[in-house]
Amino acid sequence: MSAPAHREQPSLSGQVALVTGAGRGIGRAIALRLARADIALVLAARTESQLTETARLARQLGVQALPLPTDLTQDDQTKALVTTALERFGHLDIVVNNAGGGPPRTPVIKARPTDWDATLRTNLWATMLVSKLVLPAMLAQGRGTIINICSQAGLTGRAGEAAYAAAKFGVRGFSQALLEEVREKGITVSTIYPGYVDTAMIPHNKRLQRHKMLSPDDVAEAVYQVVGSPPRCCPVELVLQPQHDPLRA
Ligand SMILES: NC(=O)c1ccc[n+]([C@@H]2O[C@H](COP(=O)([O-])OP(=O)(O)OC[C@H]3O[C@@H](n4cnc5c(N)ncnc54)[C@H](OP(=O)(O)O)[C@@H]3O)[C@@H](O)[C@H]2O)c1
Repeated sequence: MSAPAHREQPSLSGQVALVTGAGRGIGRAIALRLARADIALVLAARTESQLTETARLARQLGVQALPLPTDLTQDDQTKALVTTALERFGHLDIVVNNAGGGPPRTPVIKARPTDWDATLRTNLWATMLVSKLVLPAMLAQGRGTIINICSQAGLTGRAGEAAYAAAKFGVRGFSQALLEEVREKGITVSTIYPGYVDTAMIPHNKRLQRHKMLSPDDVAEAVYQVVGSPPRCCPVELVLQPQHDPLRA
């Protein structure tokens, strides 16, 4: 029996990636890892100064980088982001839905629904809307890579993180369903579940040993592995645990 035909592995050089939440932390590390692979960048987050700095660092690595300040809780801004990216580059090959975070740990009984709204919009809704908006271009070119940065909070609910867990569980379900819709059309959908990562999102806390946490570069390397995977293979889910538990003395 002959093997099914597979598309050639396209060169990463010359591809264009949209990275959300690229101003700092994991998103900046992802952007710079992709820049080192000669991938041009569209960078989104709200804080312009942080985005501009990520773009400057990326350009130092020799790639084009377009910072587009965007509040991904605002659908009109999200639509403008994708439209501008496609107008500027003509194609989008990789999308990393990374923007996210949540309010300080709060039990449901005390939580503010406005915080739930922001958490669901940033982590889940924006992931869904950006993915939907890039699909026509990816389907037209017959290939594309969508990578969703989830969390271990998307696998196990923990007290004080109900809305964040709801959003990240949602990301998992959305990603699985989307993959089933597009897998025969050359598009991959991968979800990464990091444990604790040493970024500004994680407040300092005496119980947490930060040197044991993952670094943003660890997550960026996983993203790079996904984009470099052979075309016959879709890395569907990657769970990244720190080798040593940051909460264990
Ligand atoms: N750190 C961890 O331990 C950890 C573990 C697992 C998963 N994650 C996930 O990894 C992702 C990145 O987290 P991080 O640790 O790098 O956090 P971070 O350092 O706080 O960075 C979050 C990024 O998202 C952007 N962002 C937040 N709200 C936004 C909005 N409404 N519109 C556009 N951009 C927005 C932020 O920029 P602005 O505030 O300027 O908009 C920033 O660039 C998140 O999805 C998070 O849930 C983190």
